[in-house]
Amino acid sequence: MIITIDGPAGAGKSTIAKLVARKLQFTYIDTGAMYRAITYKVLKNNCSLTDKERIIELAKGTKIEFKEGKIFLDGEDVSQNIRTREVTNNTSVIAAIPEVREILRNIQREYARDNNIVMEGRDIGTVVFPEAQHKFYLDASLTERAKRRFLELKNKGVKTTLDEIAAEISERDNIDLNRGLCPLKVPEGATVIDSTNKTIEEVVELIVKKIKK
Ligand code: DC
Repeated sequence: MIITIDGPAGAGKSTIAKLVARKLQFTYIDTGAMYRAITYKVLKNNCSLTDKERIIELAKGTKIEFKEGKIFLDGEDVSQNIRTREVTNNTSVIAAIPEVREILRNIQREYARDNNIVMEGRDIGTVVFPEAQHKFYLDASLTERAKRRFLELKNKGVKTTLDEIAAEISERDNIDLNRGLCPLKVPEGATVIDSTNKTIEEVVELIVKKIKK
């Protein structure tokens, strides 16, 4: 069984998808982490973000594995490295390259071959698995999403302001929503959940109930 959860940055997809997967004993796949991993590889190799050919070369043959809640890039645990602001703010550019999307899409489909999965991202219900049994679209207001991300970063000791985070999220939304290829949109037949005024538990409960029905 495939369950897809799409939505904009900071809507709570990762936290919620992880909990839903745990409840159902499904495998959880964070596809944003995969785009981040490629971005990390590009930056680490001092590759220019405008050098598409080299980026595609770097992406080809990349091995991405999820093990025990960690992500491994060509065998290296990059779970922390892919969460820096530098990676965060450059991933949209990498994710807009068609060949990179194709490479990752194939890996994503591979994961689903032998597993029941909960997969979250931007194009999972629209492009990767349009035939999925259960599709969800998780949204929240920009202010709420910025607040959540701001608190998360503050807890990690990152110095920033709410306005700065709101501007960054808004810019990422803009790229994700308006790119020509696989833009973020509500998948056909998806259940839309606005989490602005809901707790994590409420959203998880809603999703699990819907699936069990
Ligand atoms: O969910 P996230 O913030 O970790 O995603 C990081 C970036 O990857 C974000 O800019 C959108 C992009 N992305 C995408 O284009 N397609 C996906 N399926 C998942 C993420």
